[in-house]
Amino acid sequence: MKGIILAGGSGTRLHPITRAVSKQLLPVYDKPMVYYPLSVLMLAGIRDILVISTPQDVPAFQRLLGDGGELGLRIGYAVQLEPNGLAEAFVIGAEHVGSDPAALVLGDNIFHGPGFSGLLQRSIAEIEAGDAGCILFGYAVRDPQRYGVAEADADGRLLSIEEKPALPRSNRAVTGLYFYDNDVVGIAAGLRPSARGELEITDVNRAYLERGDAKLVDLGRGFAWLDTGTHESLLEAGEYVRVLENRQGVRIACIEEIAMRMGFIDPAACYALGERQAKSGYGEYVMDVAKTFAG
Ligand code: DAU
Repeated sequence: MKGIILAGGSGTRLHPITRAVSKQLLPVYDKPMVYYPLSVLMLAGIRDILVISTPQDVPAFQRLLGDGGELGLRIGYAVQLEPNGLAEAFVIGAEHVGSDPAALVLGDNIFHGPGFSGLLQRSIAEIEAGDAGCILFGYAVRDPQRYGVAEADADGRLLSIEEKPALPRSNRAVTGLYFYDNDVVGIAAGLRPSARGELEITDVNRAYLERGDAKLVDLGRGFAWLDTGTHESLLEAGEYVRVLENRQGVRIACIEEIAMRMGFIDPAACYALGERQAKSGYGEYVMDVAKTFAG
């Protein structure tokens, strides 16, 4: 399974903060926003990842993440010239995906919850076994009309999906994490721009729905799927991370720790990554977990 992080767009709802800095590099408490979606792909076991961003922002992501080798990953980069829609990720990323299944995560989506890693890995296994062509993750929200909205039957088969409907048929928002079989590349290539001029991911999902090959996994009440789209919600997301990290003494989306726990790097390599950032509490934490893990 190949991974794509889509981290472009113009970030206009966060102006003036995002006039000079990519939204997906803004801090969410103690780390850049993109660490959160990156950690989702890593927890799913995905190591071959393409980061797509704007021509001006790609160099900043490269400075932050490099080629991924230090984390036991392979990270490549590609440019999206204009925000032409989420599904364009599979047009730009066609070569990266090759003949494999693929996961797309939006660079501004933050997930946190119990058993997430297992849930992700089971979903990938389903795609790889051919039991589903498309797996989406649904989350109950108060304001579904702001999102893609889906309905599923009792077995999780997707029944309907609409983009930002004025009259939502359910309160299930479709989160920005999508798993597909390899057909996604052909489906995305055949899309026409929507009324708002974008290649819509919802149209990709509808193609799978029409084949009866799409599933919706409910993330449940114990889960957090946080919004970062406004000044208010961005601050709230940071507060959420701060409160949990301080209370529990563990860090959310610490990519060095995840790389070690997933077996992508050994504890000595993890420790060295912490040492380089030793002046921050984050770096100290990375060194501590590496020491503890090594026993
Ligand atoms: O976050 C989940 C939602 O994401 C889904 O429920 C919706 O179905 C899906 O359409 C999307 O809705 P948004 O309103 O959040 O889409 P937005 O255009 O704001 O794009 C989401 C992120 O992707 C944002 O950080 C910018 C980035 N982006 C967006 C577009 C259109 C790109 O990198 N390239 C693009 O072409």
